Amino acid sequence: MLTQDPNLAYQPNADRYTRMAYPRCGASGVRLPALSLGLWQNFGGADSLTNARAMVQCAFDLGITQFDLANNYGPPYGSAETTFGEILRRDLAPFRDELIITSKAGYDMWPGPYGIGGSRKYLVASCDQSLKRTGLEYFDIFYSHCMDPDTPLEETMQALDYIVRSGRALYVGISNYDAEQTQNAIAILKSLGTPLLVHQPRYNMLDRWIEDGLTEVLRQERVGAVVFSPLAQGLLTNKYLDGVPAGSRASRPEQIYFSEQDISAPMLTKVKALNEIAVARGQTLAQMALAWVLNNEAVTSALIGASRPEQIEDSVSALNNREFSEQELARIDTILK
Ligand SMILES: NC(=O)c1ccc[n+]([C@@H]2O[C@H](COP(=O)([O-])OP(=O)(O)OC[C@H]3O[C@@H](n4cnc5c(N)ncnc54)[C@H](OP(=O)(O)O)[C@@H]3O)[C@@H](O)[C@H]2O)c1
Repeated sequence: MLTQDPNLAYQPNADRYTRMAYPRCGASGVRLPALSLGLWQNFGGADSLTNARAMVQCAFDLGITQFDLANNYGPPYGSAETTFGEILRRDLAPFRDELIITSKAGYDMWPGPYGIGGSRKYLVASCDQSLKRTGLEYFDIFYSHCMDPDTPLEETMQALDYIVRSGRALYVGISNYDAEQTQNAIAILKSLGTPLLVHQPRYNMLDRWIEDGLTEVLRQERVGAVVFSPLAQGLLTNKYLDGVPAGSRASRPEQIYFSEQDISAPMLTKVKALNEIAVARGQTLAQMALAWVLNNEAVTSALIGASRPEQIEDSVSALNNREFSEQELARIDTILK
């Protein structure tokens, strides 16, 4: 049971629902914010709780109602959920019904054969651990984080169905499944009576794999898409235009999914050309990158990360100019080729 600390009464912005858009997620009844905040990075046990709290408050004040977790976000694993649980208790407990809180299991979490994959054993135990760490009674969405080729898809989908039927989550999602796997997952979940609410794939101007089949499946089946790393981990911002600033994600040696090597000279040429278009549109590159992702009809929400509250402010301002001319889209396509 979440109870707010009476000594630390956070008062959210009374106008928080005026700037954000809330598109419907697929054919469901639930609307998601066009921008959601992910807690993969900068919310771990090693990070500042003060900053984490400021970012979550900033996001909620700007109308971001969806917060995305996974069992292994940290470091150490599990600590982002603990941090978010702490922020819930201190600040957001009275607003639980205004929030969509998600978690996932699939990648490695604890030692041994039951701490990774897509088995019912792992998913249910992991969901229970995540509920405990966050102090929540239920997640709004629980995801299979990745397809496990060694587990029958039926078993993974039955586990998701069970997680909903047992009251641990309201909706289910899948992440990182390809088009064919998604089509199969949709069919199984439909037969079980727990429809797939949402897919969470990576999508940004530099990684358009979902356009090659997945978006068509999602559109036809009317399943939403919450797309992660819309800024390509910061590459699609103006931060790396003149080198790698200290403290940025690419500069941090512990980062294994993004480093200075990803910022090659040809890549930088592309980013600079994209930045020129953004400037001509009166936007930061981050804002244009987010508007571009949201311009794909299959996309319900862009799932951003942040290291400071100001970045969230900047990103939410993307919603002030979401339209692209045919010429702009063509120029962007030419740069990206
Ligand atoms: N399902 C999956 O397998 C999966 C995988 C990855 C991520 N995700 C989810 O997606 C979320 C977002 O991923 P991501 O962090 O890679 O997203 P991202 O939005 O592409 O990158 C976030 C990083 O970009 C920089 N940034 C953000 N806003 C900025 C702005 N307005 N101006 C300049 N720089 C800005 C910051 O980097 P600095 O730290 O350098 O300041 C920030 O940490 C994760 O938290 C997680 O919830 C899911």
